[in-house]
Amino acid sequence: MTRISGLIGRVFRRGKKVFREILRLGVEDPWGESYRRERALFSYTGWDRYWLDINRPQHTPTLEDLDVMEFDLLRFVHAIDKGLQLPNRKVAFGREKIRCILTMLRHLICFKNCREQVIAWAVEVLRQYVEVLRNDLETKEYSPTDRSELVSWLNELERELDSLLSMGELKIESPESNGLSNVYYQRRSIRQWSKKPVEDAILRQIVEAAVWAPSSCNRQPYKFIFIRSEHGKRLLLDVATGGRGLAEHAPVIVLLLSDVRAYYAPSERHLAYIDSALASQNLSLAAHELGLGTVWLNCATEDFVKEDRLRNELSIPPWYAIVGALAIGYPREGFQAKPPVRRCVDNIILHERFGSLR
Ligand SMILES: Cc1cc2nc3c(=O)[nH]c(=O)nc-3n(C[C@H](O)[C@H](O)[C@H](O)COP(=O)(O)O)c2cc1C
Repeated sequence: MTRISGLIGRVFRRGKKVFREILRLGVEDPWGESYRRERALFSYTGWDRYWLDINRPQHTPTLEDLDVMEFDLLRFVHAIDKGLQLPNRKVAFGREKIRCILTMLRHLICFKNCREQVIAWAVEVLRQYVEVLRNDLETKEYSPTDRSELVSWLNELERELDSLLSMGELKIESPESNGLSNVYYQRRSIRQWSKKPVEDAILRQIVEAAVWAPSSCNRQPYKFIFIRSEHGKRLLLDVATGGRGLAEHAPVIVLLLSDVRAYYAPSERHLAYIDSALASQNLSLAAHELGLGTVWLNCATEDFVKEDRLRNELSIPPWYAIVGALAIGYPREGFQAKPPVRRCVDNIILHERFGSLR
């Protein structure tokens, strides 16, 4: 009798557990809540960036606006700087971006708050832009309309730069190694390569350094596909569009993949990306130490047809996330990448809590 009632009790308790599990899955979908919170977080990507619409009336930025404006300034100036390094630039490229840059500079120069270096660098890149395009005017063929348009644009830009410079002295300081190894300070994104091949043994050596990066519970959930073929590079650059015009000339592009099966809780879903990103940093530092140059290629795309084509042709299983890619090669002889600016750490470090800037 007691054995029967014990059995009934066990079946009942087991049934209750299964029932609760079913309810939990049906009612409190943990992925749903996690995505809801993420959507709420990312709603802030829609921050009102009035400085990017030069036709809108500009008002005094709030303190919260200033960081976002600095991110946008860095991004836009980076695009101009990168454009200047590419051989096939368009006539007067980046004009719309530069108009926004000028608007941001006018705002930021009034609220420098440790942003002097970023401002000085932006002005310097615009000065180089004027210099390079003036040189193009002398060396390249233009139609009379293009020529006169370019001349008046450069004159307008020079006037703007002069008026900005009249608002205060801007001096770029070179990075200091701060007592640490130079490897942190001297690695640069390299976008011009020599034809010297990169041996498999070297790639193996840098991957051996990559796997010594930290990974969550030491899972190391990544795979790296080394792509050397023209066809493979083309497929990849259809997705990694920020590498077009430069990465096709690199001898190798490594595609960074991460196995999402390593992480199954919704709250852990970013860890697969973090693990690979950390490994990629070791990879690029090791490559730098061996005299190679690398540049990260952003593989974020909304063109899923192209992403699927890449996945199919490279036989990438569906449980692998495409994290990004790195173009690798020896830098072109005599090529010296100029260090871009870094944000002032006083705008990054907080003590104990947000709002405790000191
Ligand atoms: C996630 C990520 C994506 C990037 N994507 C690209 C890219 O698509 N094309 C490119 O030329 N550089 C890309 N970069 C390189 C950055 O532009 C570069 O790291 C930054 O401008 C700082 O320059 P530095 O690496 O020389 O210090 C990327 C870097 C990261 C971390």
